[in-house]
Amino acid sequence: MTAAPPSLGARILARAAELARHSDMEGGLTCAFLTPAHARAQADLAAWMEDAGMTVRIDAIGNVIGRYAADPDEAAAQVLMTGSHFDTVRDGGRYDGRLGILLPIAVVGALRDAGIRLPYHLDVVAFAEEEGLRFKTSFLASSVLADRFDAALLDRVDADGVTMAAALAGAGFPGAGKPDALRAAAVDPATLAGFVEVHIEQGPVLLHRGLPLGIVTQIAGSSRFQVRIEGLASHAGTTPMDMRRDAAAGAAEMILLVEQRCGQVPSLVGTVGQLQVPNGSSNVIPAACTFSMDIRAGEDGIREAAIADIVAGIERIATRRGLTASVERVTPVNNAPCARWLMDQFGAVLRKRGMEVFELPSGAGHDAMMMQRITDVAMLFVRCGNGGISHNPLETITEEDAQQAAEVFVDFLRHFRPKPVEQ
Ligand code: GLV
Ligand code: MN
Ligand code: MN
Repeated sequence: MTAAPPSLGARILARAAELARHSDMEGGLTCAFLTPAHARAQADLAAWMEDAGMTVRIDAIGNVIGRYAADPDEAAAQVLMTGSHFDTVRDGGRYDGRLGILLPIAVVGALRDAGIRLPYHLDVVAFAEEEGLRFKTSFLASSVLADRFDAALLDRVDADGVTMAAALAGAGFPGAGKPDALRAAAVDPATLAGFVEVHIEQGPVLLHRGLPLGIVTQIAGSSRFQVRIEGLASHAGTTPMDMRRDAAAGAAEMILLVEQRCGQVPSLVGTVGQLQVPNGSSNVIPAACTFSMDIRAGEDGIREAAIADIVAGIERIATRRGLTASVERVTPVNNAPCARWLMDQFGAVLRKRGMEVFELPSGAGHDAMMMQRITDVAMLFVRCGNGGISHNPLETITEEDAQQAAEVFVDFLRHFRPKPVEQ
């Protein structure tokens, strides 16, 4: 097979639409970890993998892992792993994560149809959780594979008070969510030749440069926090302004601090995406306010310096206003560089096809970050339409770009060579 069949782009888009029908919400796409919609998406993905010629298993955290077995003549075959996540943010897009599962499934189906076996096992992983929507802690699925899962997280509760342990126990995965089973689901790094992830860019860079594809250089480190501010509830009509301990007003000042501090360095970004006044009433001064805080930068030192300043600033604001603040760090993930030898193999494919080899960093987090803790990783970005918007239902790609990406992926797999031995 010199080229992939011309129908792959259309198939990928059709399946993204089909998968998006499984949603926790009406009129949009929300697929949170271990919901009924999540289970239906998982079942579709498993069926599509089988249909493409893979042997499929579900692991202890709910990852769907399809193996396209190596040519039987390859006695000591290693595993090249690829994949991405199928959970989504609330009212998200249908390609974030899912493109990196549907594209390899389509490609494997094409290889199988053409009778082509690879000299290594290709494992396609549909990661069950990356976004952190349900339990406010992300990378659960890849952290299990990378043996970085923190068993203390099993006690975390969702918005309805359901623990992660109970949700996993009820999901029917092997090991019923027990810590030992989660630990046993880790992959042996010695078996891996590397991890590659195809993902929609989720930004406007490729769009503005007129390029369908880009090769990722590194993935920016990120830290997420849950902040809780405590004040004093009192009457909105009778409490003078200078006698208030208003938790929401304090939080507002803290959010502006995040914006101001993160605006000082180009690669640094800070976001408060969730903000609540628990049990608030319109005529009661807020006794409590909770918010999430997400801080990222291309360099870990820049991120850590910003975090130190922001946490100190939160304490200062709280003290001045007579409030108390607790800042819980939930998911710190360090900057993850991509491996030059893998990037170069993608670059060689693009060059051979007469395409520009363009490299760019990723500001968004990806499963590849966690996998980078145990193996070399690379990422192929696909152009994002609609101005580059993502984490939004407007997120889109074209059929032509999906086709190009699939063709590049076929060539990459067919020419893949394990890491050269260092001299
Ligand atoms: C994942 O989508 C992230 O938050 O970057
Ligand atoms: Mn996302
Ligand atoms: Mn994603």
